[in-house]
Amino acid sequence: MKVFLASPIFNDEMKKAAIDALCSERFVLGESVFKFEEDFARYCKMDYGVSTNSGTAALHLALVALGVKRGHRVVTSPASFVATANAVVHAGATPVFADVELQTYNLDFEQLRQKITSETKAVIPVHLYGYPSDMDAIVETARRHGLCVIEDACQAHGAVYKGRRVGSLGDVACFSFYPSKNLTVAGDGGMLVTDDEEVAEKVAKMRDCGRVTKYVHDVIGYTSRLNTVNAAVGRVQLKHLDEWNEKRRKNAALYDRFLSDLDELVLPPSVGSEVEPVYHLYVIRLKHRNKLKKWLEENGVGCGIHYVLPIHLQPIYKQLYGFSGGEYPKSEELCRTCLSIPMHLHLTLDKIRYVSEKIHEFFENKIYEK
Ligand SMILES: Cc1ncc(COP(=O)(O)O)c(C=O)c1O
Repeated sequence: MKVFLASPIFNDEMKKAAIDALCSERFVLGESVFKFEEDFARYCKMDYGVSTNSGTAALHLALVALGVKRGHRVVTSPASFVATANAVVHAGATPVFADVELQTYNLDFEQLRQKITSETKAVIPVHLYGYPSDMDAIVETARRHGLCVIEDACQAHGAVYKGRRVGSLGDVACFSFYPSKNLTVAGDGGMLVTDDEEVAEKVAKMRDCGRVTKYVHDVIGYTSRLNTVNAAVGRVQLKHLDEWNEKRRKNAALYDRFLSDLDELVLPPSVGSEVEPVYHLYVIRLKHRNKLKKWLEENGVGCGIHYVLPIHLQPIYKQLYGFSGGEYPKSEELCRTCLSIPMHLHLTLDKIRYVSEKIHEFFENKIYEK
């Protein structure tokens, strides 16, 4: 049996929307872009949506629009995709890391508190793997110190925290539509949502070359627009997002059931009554991670490691900021032991059972000793 790690959806409805947009709209900043922004903002229950050509661009422009610049510090999690911290560097500021809690793999607000100085301007909590961060504690800490809160919701479209969708829990939230995400646009793409009109206007201008009118520019802008064809696909995907997230939750519940008897594994954080995660990834943790990955791959099961290194130990961050290891032990532990097993909408009960059986075999037959 072959079981892919991820499997993006691009069906006839999306193909039609793409062709229609290509044939009848401007390629750049066509009607679908603005409709997608409206739809997505409404989905998050926010006033404004501004699309970009990536989640990284959304994060970068959010920081700039909020006034983050050289001399400022921005606290975020080292257990994330490198782009979270890159956006801070792009804005000219210094990324400062605070460790995660191993129960959720998200920013520990106590660690955050310890990292705040007079130069700190913003915090970027990451809803890693689609599991919402403890936003009440983070926002309260941020407010007490006058910091902006930018949610990195790039992996968490539709996740719910205490009855509210992520994207509506800070000042600004950023999403990615990269093909592996719960919602994609059949290519790269991103979106920023906010209730702050000024921030939305600034970002809309900056992503479009800083233009006031066609050839008049009053800020140094970027070419960071989402293409019309991608927005048209995104609009169709958004209509299905809740139903798709529900399917991911059902898949996760099956894995939970089939794997819960294995003491050697740490399963994803429990759901509880206050959070509804969206399982962008289903990540298990174990001591013999590399051997299990090899075993599963030999048996046709796609696996991933999210991530091989915490951001502070990426070669460029070691070089720029002098990290050498040991600074953020929980994030380092996560990266040493995490394994993403298949999670997508084309998984069947049989496939989930097969993956789970292979994991059982790995321990029962002590494959890790080989
Ligand atoms: C947590 C996180 N932040 C930021 C990004 C950057 O998004 P993009 O790849 O669309 O630039 C990603 C995704 O790739 C991500 O997973």
